[in-house]
Amino acid sequence: MNFYERLTKYRYNYKNSYSSFKFIDFMNTDMEGTYDSYPDKSNENSIRQIVRSVFSYRRYEPCNPYVFHKVVPSARNVHPNEAFLIEDGFISRFNSKANQFEMLGYSRHYEGRLWIIIASELWRIMKFYGDFGLALSLLDVGHIQAHVKLKLLDSGYERARLLYGVDTKKLIQSLGFSKNSACIGAVIDLSEYVSEIEFLSEKDRVKTGIQQRKFNYDDEVGSYPQVIEFLHYRDEPKTKPIAYHEGANKLCKDLAYEIYRNSGHNTPGLFSTTERLPTATAKRYAEGIAEYIKYFLGDKSGFWAGVLYRALDGEDYLIIVSEAGTERINKCCKIHREELLHDTFEHINMNSIPLDIFLIYSIDPYSTQEENIRNAHIGAGEISQYISLMAAKDGFFARPMKNFNDNYISKLIGIDSNRESIVYSTIIGRENHYNYVLKL
Ligand SMILES: Cc1cc2nc3c(=O)[nH]c(=O)nc-3n(C[C@H](O)[C@H](O)[C@H](O)COP(=O)(O)O)c2cc1C
Repeated sequence: MNFYERLTKYRYNYKNSYSSFKFIDFMNTDMEGTYDSYPDKSNENSIRQIVRSVFSYRRYEPCNPYVFHKVVPSARNVHPNEAFLIEDGFISRFNSKANQFEMLGYSRHYEGRLWIIIASELWRIMKFYGDFGLALSLLDVGHIQAHVKLKLLDSGYERARLLYGVDTKKLIQSLGFSKNSACIGAVIDLSEYVSEIEFLSEKDRVKTGIQQRKFNYDDEVGSYPQVIEFLHYRDEPKTKPIAYHEGANKLCKDLAYEIYRNSGHNTPGLFSTTERLPTATAKRYAEGIAEYIKYFLGDKSGFWAGVLYRALDGEDYLIIVSEAGTERINKCCKIHREELLHDTFEHINMNSIPLDIFLIYSIDPYSTQEENIRNAHIGAGEISQYISLMAAKDGFFARPMKNFNDNYISKLIGIDSNRESIVYSTIIGRENHYNYVLKL
């Protein structure tokens, strides 16, 4: 079993005695001495506005145990990704709790750069999930990256690039992390726009050393050498566009529904009041996935999807879709929906869910294991985020699901498990727990 397999089909080999349900506290509390780097929000530049809008809490539901909603999944705050900005050498972090950018310091090394960085204190999630926490954190990066890409494109920053092969060791320390515990999820380079953006006022341009984090988790992460190896791996320097095709702009309109993104978390459990869907609706999701892959991940991304739905005639159908569009629709034999997930006993009524989407990645034999791990998880997270926006537009919930049952689904949709793996899934339905009748 290699590390890619460990993070995908063998992820359940890890026994873990912690419960992440206890962990509903805030992140972002472990830095001292930072300050609001730009308290005047009235004329905040558009890059900061974009970062703030993706990372801030947007909705509060007092009757919901998962009360703080962002436009990207909060995953109970267990998932630790944060946003950092480098603006012509000045480094700041967005603190979601305080809803402010905190100045961490200045580094001459980054003069002339305008970067948005997604990075995480990896140990925060690894203490619940062990090395598999890396996979969850990268999926999270995908959700965030998709949303940031859509927003950048929507605001006219089409020349933004994803940057690979940066000196991550240096970057990690410049962001205040200790050397082994942080994962740089993505670096989005907007340096082409550096002369067009108004940064800080002169009075805020105080050059200081970098604030470091209060706690250092190097020892704990050190017990997972494969994770350390992944964190220290340096890609070949290259850039990728944020979108591959002019048609990408079309998908930005779904951002209008971001505030209604809903993963269906509430006290009674997860079930859908709509149990069947018109075939046209399922096909629309398949087309949306094809477009996202083609426009945002590119023709050679290696992704395809299985869209399983219960049609109006009560029968189950499976649509297979890739960047080229719908490849086929098959009627399925009896589906045991409870078997699609591992934890359906935990208040999830899978029989009521009309639409389940599985994201599959074909391993690229010409890329390194590290690149495959990164591309598989971040790409799947991106597609899932777009699915969530499509669902929000329809008034549906879309719950991203990592604990699907690989063996059952592999057989159902026909995976060649030597070169393909199911990376992520989303279950979609309509929430109305007040009127749902449980069959006892
Ligand atoms: C990478 C990832 C994996 C997830 N896996 C599961 C899962 O296996 N089961 C589940 O019930 N929810 C899963 N979720 C959904 C989270 O539980 C959900 O995001 C969280 O509870 C908070 O709700 P919110 O998305 O509305 O903020 C996952 C979310 C993410 C980002």
